[in-house]
Amino acid sequence: MTNDKLDRLQQLRNTAVQGGGADAIERQHKKGKLTARERLDVLLDDGSFHEMGLFVGSAPAKFGDSKNHLGDGLVGGAGRINGRRVIVYSQDFTVMGGSLGERHAEKILKLMAKARALGIPIVGIFDSGGARIQEGVQSLAGYASIFRENTISSGVIPQIAVILGPCAGGAVYSPGLQDFTFMVSGSSHMFLTGPDVIKTVLHEEISFEDLGGASVHTGKSGVAHFRSENEVQCLKCVRDLLGYLPSNNKELAPRTGAAGDDPERRDSALGEIVPLDPGKPYEIKGVITSVMD
Ligand code: HXC
Repeated sequence: MTNDKLDRLQQLRNTAVQGGGADAIERQHKKGKLTARERLDVLLDDGSFHEMGLFVGSAPAKFGDSKNHLGDGLVGGAGRINGRRVIVYSQDFTVMGGSLGERHAEKILKLMAKARALGIPIVGIFDSGGARIQEGVQSLAGYASIFRENTISSGVIPQIAVILGPCAGGAVYSPGLQDFTFMVSGSSHMFLTGPDVIKTVLHEEISFEDLGGASVHTGKSGVAHFRSENEVQCLKCVRDLLGYLPSNNKELAPRTGAAGDDPERRDSALGEIVPLDPGKPYEIKGVITSVMD
């Protein structure tokens, strides 16, 4: 390639990695949130990320103004976590609020299919206003295909959803179909329609936190499984969780001798917890705590 072409390629690369631009990145940081790329840096082993689809442009808008962003608001590819291969994608809120348009959806679909073909876990980081309004029904079709992929991959490879911002409208169904969902207190919110719509339609006032915050989904609805205090802690928990999981349904889970719990250990309390009378209730948590490492 001539130097001109290499310079042009470098220029395109620089533009693409900037996402929605310096101002939008500053706004993201001011909310105490990392960017899509910074999150992948924390999640993955150093230097292991191989990006795919960096130069995919946005589809033309059906409604309103067309905005062409290289990467279309999604950073995705392959990487390693504690040496094991994974597929990852991270929605970029600085690009049209991380909303899902046609190309954004196509990128996720390709990554999901690749993870299943390779038999390796897939981790999605969600920070999105849902279906991209400007692309109309194409966005909804994108979601439908993603949900279908989620169900095909279910029970085949681990699917992990990490909610690190708003996760609105169509964006919430896919995490709901996955195996493990992580949230962060105060900044993660999962809901189908936001407080403003609820106020208009139902005349009820509700805060983001009460509608779809981390405590609601880990404490009441059961939609999410893990709650962390900040993004870095959350992404480190994802790394830890993967250490317990097999990469696919044909592998055994990784084994470690580090538990330090003697398999021959006897606990006489177990004889007291479960009553002889099968009609009597008992506290199952005591049994679990005693039996588990
Ligand atoms: C296009 C969107 C968008 C969307 C946000 N943006 N959501 N663009 N489609 N769905 C854009 C905003 O216009 C804005 O662009 C930028 O992203 C940042 O958004 P803000 O509102 O400034 O950010 P914030 O105050 O943090 O609020 C975030 C938010 C709010 C809570 C997510 O944007 C919001 O409520 N969005 C709409 C959520 C929603 O109702 N989604 C449902 C879509 S329908 P500029 O250019 O101003 O920076 C759907 C149905 C699916 O998903 C059905 C599936 C089967």
